[in-house]
Amino acid sequence: MKSVIQVIKGLPHFASGPIIKGFGRGSRDLANFGIDVVNELPRELGTGIYYGWASVDNGDVHKMVMSIGWNPYYENEHKSMETHILHNYDRDLYGSLLKVCIVGYLRPEQNFESLEALITAIKNDIADAERLLETPEHLKTKNNDFFKETNEKSSKPDSKNTSNGHHTSNGH
Ligand SMILES: Cc1cc2nc3c(=O)[nH]c(=O)nc-3n(C[C@H](O)[C@H](O)[C@H](O)COP(=O)(O)O)c2cc1C
Repeated sequence: MKSVIQVIKGLPHFASGPIIKGFGRGSRDLANFGIDVVNELPRELGTGIYYGWASVDNGDVHKMVMSIGWNPYYENEHKSMETHILHNYDRDLYGSLLKVCIVGYLRPEQNFESLEALITAIKNDIADAERLLETPEHLKTKNNDFFKETNEKSSKPDSKNTSNGHHTSNGH
């Protein structure tokens, strides 16, 4: 069980963009970013499992866990940023605007003997994230103006905007 918040270079990292279809292996509650958002991850942010905050279509901000990498269990060829939002939306999210703030790192990506082992690991990640996000430092990030801006043209001086509908910055 994780109880210590690790300081990771490149965090917090803010990113937004439309939700695209994943690899279609059935976990329909995963929200995937397109390759343009993945390519804008800070260089120092390695692959692994992260946690933070997320909103869909500028709605309420919820806790999330995110897998960044190649998913060794599935041997993916493309790097992905898969967000599992800890909220039941009860609707198809494809095409909706996903905003995330990645605030912390949980563990490296692993290969697993079985799908059950992968699912158990993800459940542990969720429990860790639920707890770690309750710290005052992280709760502050939940209220960041980033989640309140409905116009993608951010007024934050440190943010980068691009013309193709997504936005990313590291909040420093
Ligand atoms: C919190 C979290 C942790 C994950 N950890 C791993 C991991 O350690 N190893 C791995 O191969 N995949 C990991 N995954 C990725 C799953 O393999 C992935 O979500 C799965 O491929 C479903 O993809 P699809 O819905 O796009 O088909 C993780 C995903 C999440 C959300």
